[in-house]
Amino acid sequence: MKYFLDSAKIDEIREAYETFGIDGVTTNPNHIMNSGKPFYTVIGELADFVKEKGIEGWDVFPISVEINPHLDTADEIVEMGKKIAAMCSNFVIKIPCTQAGITAAKRLEKDGVRTNLTLVFSGSQALIAAKNGSLFVSPFIGWKENSGEDCTQYIQDIVTMYENYGFFGKTQIICAAVRNGKQFVDCAVAGADIVTAGLQVFKDSFYHPFTDYGLKKFCGAWDKTITD
Ligand code: E4P
Repeated sequence: MKYFLDSAKIDEIREAYETFGIDGVTTNPNHIMNSGKPFYTVIGELADFVKEKGIEGWDVFPISVEINPHLDTADEIVEMGKKIAAMCSNFVIKIPCTQAGITAAKRLEKDGVRTNLTLVFSGSQALIAAKNGSLFVSPFIGWKENSGEDCTQYIQDIVTMYENYGFFGKTQIICAAVRNGKQFVDCAVAGADIVTAGLQVFKDSFYHPFTDYGLKKFCGAWDKTITD
């Protein structure tokens, strides 16, 4: 299962890439706002980052860029999607799973622009994303689980549907808004392709108190070991 960082902060992306080797990045308007920088400045930084690291291409290190969410016709979405995709070969155009978004994604994919259908909350939304050939589909896990739903079956259903019809791997399932280590494991057990989460969620998922306990114990033993 691949790990994507859900962030638009270049320092966080650099840290996650250099310390635990993330496989890609997802952004959204919220993350752009939280970066404190304008949209085009942020995506310019992302384009410079992939050049610096020699990881150019959506098939090497995909960066999902969510375009203006106010656009509500397929024509407008396609126009902006093509403009942004032309700026960097890593950019995958992230589009809400609305009727206009689904239409636009199909047209963009036909014209060679890779897409990520986002704000997906049902199996039927995930199915249309795959039928239309999007590279990624982003079912949101955290939002559903925060409202009391257990998402294990939901992810499993999407995996099964994709396997049944030969979509699995062609449209890759990004479990989005992942909030904790248990959700990472649930996504992996269900067979999702990717999880995307914030930097602190990754850091917390690597932590276990027994690891600290064991480390302390072994340090104590090391200090008492008879030296040669
Ligand atoms: C995923 O692609 C989204 O960017 C993201 O997970 C949105 O949710 P959040 O900001 O609540 O985590």
